[in-house]
Amino acid sequence: MKAIANVDSNWGIGCNGNLLVRIPEDMRFFKATTIGKIVVMGRETFESLPGGQPLKERTNIVLTRNEDFNPNGAIKCSSIFDLNNNLSQYNLNDVFVIGGESVYKQLLPFCSEAYITKVESKFDADKFFVNLDLNEAWEVVDESEVKTHNDINFRFVKYINKKI
Ligand SMILES: NC(=O)c1ccc[n+]([C@@H]2O[C@H](COP(=O)([O-])OP(=O)(O)OC[C@H]3O[C@@H](n4cnc5c(N)ncnc54)[C@H](OP(=O)(O)O)[C@@H]3O)[C@@H](O)[C@H]2O)c1
Repeated sequence: MKAIANVDSNWGIGCNGNLLVRIPEDMRFFKATTIGKIVVMGRETFESLPGGQPLKERTNIVLTRNEDFNPNGAIKCSSIFDLNNNLSQYNLNDVFVIGGESVYKQLLPFCSEAYITKVESKFDADKFFVNLDLNEAWEVVDESEVKTHNDINFRFVKYINKKI
Protein backbone atom coordinates (compact mmCIF):
# COMPACT_ATOMS: atom_id res chain seq x y z
CA MET A 1 0.00 0.00 0.00
CA LYS A 2 1.15 3.55 -0.71
CA ALA A 3 0.31 6.96 0.66
CA ILE A 4 -0.18 10.10 -1.38
CA ALA A 5 -0.52 13.58 0.15
CA ASN A 6 0.06 17.27 -0.35
CA VAL A 7 1.78 18.91 2.64
CA ASP A 8 2.83 22.44 3.49
CA SER A 9 6.21 23.37 4.98
CA ASN A 10 4.89 22.31 8.42
CA TRP A 11 3.45 19.01 7.12
CA GLY A 12 -0.04 20.53 7.39
CA ILE A 13 -2.63 18.88 5.14
CA GLY A 14 -5.96 20.53 5.88
CA CYS A 15 -7.98 23.13 7.72
CA ASN A 16 -11.70 23.23 8.54
CA GLY A 17 -12.27 20.12 6.46
CA ASN A 18 -10.62 21.54 3.35
CA LEU A 19 -7.31 21.19 1.57
CA LEU A 20 -4.77 23.92 2.28
CA VAL A 21 -3.97 24.65 -1.34
CA ARG A 22 -5.00 23.47 -4.80
CA ILE A 23 -2.24 23.30 -7.39
CA PRO A 24 -3.41 22.15 -10.84
CA GLU A 25 -0.19 20.24 -11.61
CA ASP A 26 -0.48 18.44 -8.27
CA MET A 27 -4.12 17.57 -8.95
CA ARG A 28 -3.05 16.11 -12.31
CA PHE A 29 -0.26 14.16 -10.60
CA PHE A 30 -2.73 12.79 -8.04
CA LYS A 31 -5.13 11.74 -10.78
CA ALA A 32 -2.44 10.16 -12.98
CA THR A 33 -0.98 8.25 -10.02
CA THR A 34 -4.28 6.89 -8.65
CA ILE A 35 -6.34 6.34 -11.82
CA GLY A 36 -7.45 2.74 -12.19
CA LYS A 37 -6.32 2.00 -8.62
CA ILE A 38 -7.91 1.53 -5.22
CA VAL A 39 -8.13 4.65 -3.05
CA VAL A 40 -8.68 4.37 0.72
CA MET A 41 -9.93 7.35 2.70
CA GLY A 42 -11.68 8.42 5.88
CA ARG A 43 -15.31 9.50 5.91
CA GLU A 44 -14.38 13.19 6.33
CA THR A 45 -12.18 13.12 3.25
CA PHE A 46 -14.86 11.26 1.26
CA GLU A 47 -17.40 13.94 2.15
CA SER A 48 -14.97 16.66 1.07
CA LEU A 49 -14.58 15.26 -2.46
CA PRO A 50 -15.91 17.52 -5.24
CA GLY A 51 -19.70 17.16 -5.34
CA GLY A 52 -19.48 14.60 -2.53
CA GLN A 53 -18.92 12.05 -5.28
CA PRO A 54 -16.42 9.17 -5.33
CA LEU A 55 -13.30 9.67 -7.40
CA LYS A 56 -14.01 8.54 -10.96
CA GLU A 57 -12.28 5.55 -12.54
CA ARG A 58 -10.99 4.37 -9.17
CA THR A 59 -12.27 1.87 -6.60
CA ASN A 60 -13.20 4.06 -3.62
CA ILE A 61 -13.01 2.58 -0.12
CA VAL A 62 -14.30 4.68 2.79
CA LEU A 63 -13.60 4.02 6.47
CA THR A 64 -16.47 4.87 8.81
CA ARG A 65 -17.78 3.53 12.10
CA ASN A 66 -21.21 4.95 11.34
CA GLU A 67 -23.46 2.04 10.33
CA ASP A 68 -25.98 4.46 8.84
CA PHE A 69 -23.47 6.12 6.52
CA ASN A 70 -23.81 4.66 3.05
CA PRO A 71 -21.32 6.22 0.64
CA ASN A 72 -22.79 6.01 -2.84
CA GLY A 73 -20.40 4.44 -5.32
CA ALA A 74 -17.89 3.46 -2.64
CA ILE A 75 -17.09 0.39 -0.53
CA LYS A 76 -17.60 0.97 3.19
CA CYS A 77 -15.25 -0.49 5.82
CA SER A 78 -15.97 -0.26 9.53
CA SER A 79 -12.46 -0.91 10.88
CA ILE A 80 -8.85 -1.52 9.85
CA PHE A 81 -9.61 -5.24 10.25
CA ASP A 82 -12.55 -4.95 7.85
CA LEU A 83 -10.35 -2.92 5.47
CA ASN A 84 -7.66 -5.60 5.48
CA ASN A 85 -10.26 -8.24 4.62
CA ASN A 86 -11.51 -6.12 1.72
CA LEU A 87 -8.01 -5.38 0.45
CA SER A 88 -7.07 -9.06 0.30
CA GLN A 89 -8.67 -9.25 -3.15
CA TYR A 90 -6.35 -6.55 -4.56
CA ASN A 91 -2.65 -6.19 -5.28
CA LEU A 92 -1.44 -3.97 -2.41
CA ASN A 93 0.80 -2.10 -4.86
CA ASP A 94 -2.41 -0.73 -6.38
CA VAL A 95 -3.80 0.57 -3.08
CA PHE A 96 -3.38 4.27 -2.28
CA VAL A 97 -4.13 5.82 1.09
CA ILE A 98 -5.43 9.31 0.27
CA GLY A 99 -6.21 10.74 3.73
CA GLY A 100 -7.09 12.41 5.89
CA GLU A 101 -4.99 12.83 9.00
CA SER A 102 -6.54 9.99 11.02
CA VAL A 103 -6.31 7.47 8.19
CA TYR A 104 -2.74 8.43 7.22
CA LYS A 105 -1.69 8.00 10.87
CA GLN A 106 -3.23 4.53 11.14
CA LEU A 107 -2.08 3.19 7.78
CA LEU A 108 1.33 4.81 7.29
CA PRO A 109 3.17 1.97 9.09
CA PHE A 110 1.77 -0.40 6.44
CA CYS A 111 2.70 1.82 3.48
CA SER A 112 5.83 0.94 1.51
CA GLU A 113 5.97 4.26 -0.36
CA ALA A 114 4.73 7.81 0.09
CA TYR A 115 4.21 10.32 -2.71
CA ILE A 116 4.44 13.70 -1.03
CA THR A 117 3.89 16.99 -2.78
CA LYS A 118 5.86 19.40 -0.63
CA VAL A 119 4.62 22.97 -0.77
CA GLU A 120 7.21 25.49 0.40
CA SER A 121 4.69 27.76 2.18
CA LYS A 122 3.07 27.59 5.59
CA PHE A 123 -0.72 27.78 5.86
CA ASP A 124 -3.11 27.74 8.84
CA ALA A 125 -3.71 24.02 9.36
CA ASP A 126 -5.60 21.85 11.85
CA LYS A 127 -4.68 18.47 10.28
CA PHE A 128 -1.18 17.15 9.71
CA PHE A 129 0.75 14.35 8.04
CA VAL A 130 3.52 12.58 9.96
CA ASN A 131 6.81 14.42 9.37
CA LEU A 132 8.66 11.79 7.34
CA ASP A 133 11.90 13.78 7.42
CA LEU A 134 12.03 13.16 11.19
CA ASN A 135 11.06 9.50 10.93
CA GLU A 136 14.01 7.16 10.58
CA ALA A 137 11.93 4.50 8.77
CA TRP A 138 11.42 6.80 5.81
CA GLU A 139 13.96 7.81 3.17
CA VAL A 140 13.74 10.12 0.15
CA VAL A 141 14.42 8.22 -3.08
CA ASP A 142 13.27 10.71 -5.69
CA GLU A 143 12.70 14.45 -5.81
CA SER A 144 11.55 16.70 -8.66
CA GLU A 145 12.93 20.13 -9.40
CA VAL A 146 11.16 23.01 -7.68
CA LYS A 147 8.04 24.04 -9.58
CA THR A 148 5.99 27.22 -9.19
CA HIS A 149 2.27 28.00 -9.31
CA ASN A 150 1.02 31.52 -8.46
CA ASP A 151 4.23 32.30 -6.54
CA ILE A 152 3.90 29.05 -4.57
CA ASN A 153 6.90 26.75 -4.84
CA PHE A 154 6.42 23.01 -4.62
CA ARG A 155 8.11 19.74 -5.54
CA PHE A 156 7.21 16.10 -5.83
CA VAL A 157 9.10 13.91 -3.35
CA LYS A 158 8.97 10.13 -3.19
CA TYR A 159 9.80 8.35 0.08
CA ILE A 160 10.20 4.66 0.80
CA ASN A 161 9.56 2.89 4.08
CA LYS A 162 12.78 1.02 4.91
CA LYS A 163 10.89 -1.12 7.44
CA ILE A 164 8.76 -2.80 4.74
N1 LIG B 1 -3.40 17.45 1.81
C1 LIG B 1 -3.84 16.24 1.50
O1 LIG B 1 -3.22 15.53 0.71
C2 LIG B 1 -5.13 15.74 2.10
C3 LIG B 1 -5.66 14.53 1.69
C4 LIG B 1 -6.85 14.09 2.27
C5 LIG B 1 -7.49 14.86 3.23
N2 LIG B 1 -6.94 16.05 3.59
C6 LIG B 1 -7.57 16.86 4.62
O2 LIG B 1 -7.63 16.13 5.84
C7 LIG B 1 -8.75 16.58 6.60
C8 LIG B 1 -9.59 15.40 7.02
O3 LIG B 1 -8.84 14.56 7.89
P1 LIG B 1 -9.51 13.93 9.21
O4 LIG B 1 -8.45 13.23 9.97
O5 LIG B 1 -10.30 15.01 9.88
O6 LIG B 1 -10.61 12.94 8.61
P2 LIG B 1 -10.52 11.57 7.76
O7 LIG B 1 -9.32 10.78 8.18
O8 LIG B 1 -10.70 11.88 6.33
O9 LIG B 1 -11.87 10.86 8.26
C9 LIG B 1 -12.03 10.57 9.64
C10 LIG B 1 -13.17 9.60 9.77
O10 LIG B 1 -12.82 8.34 9.15
C11 LIG B 1 -13.42 7.30 9.87
N3 LIG B 1 -12.37 6.43 10.41
C12 LIG B 1 -11.08 6.74 10.68
N4 LIG B 1 -10.43 5.66 11.14
C13 LIG B 1 -11.31 4.64 11.15
C14 LIG B 1 -11.24 3.26 11.52
N5 LIG B 1 -10.09 2.70 11.97
N6 LIG B 1 -12.36 2.50 11.40
C15 LIG B 1 -13.51 3.04 10.94
N7 LIG B 1 -13.64 4.34 10.57
C16 LIG B 1 -12.56 5.12 10.68
C17 LIG B 1 -14.26 7.93 10.96
O11 LIG B 1 -15.52 8.17 10.36
P3 LIG B 1 -16.91 8.26 11.18
O12 LIG B 1 -16.84 9.50 11.98
O13 LIG B 1 -17.93 8.30 10.08
O14 LIG B 1 -16.99 7.01 11.99
C18 LIG B 1 -13.53 9.23 11.20
O15 LIG B 1 -14.31 10.24 11.81
C19 LIG B 1 -9.50 17.57 5.72
O16 LIG B 1 -9.11 18.90 6.06
C20 LIG B 1 -9.01 17.23 4.33
O17 LIG B 1 -9.10 18.30 3.42
C21 LIG B 1 -5.78 16.50 3.05
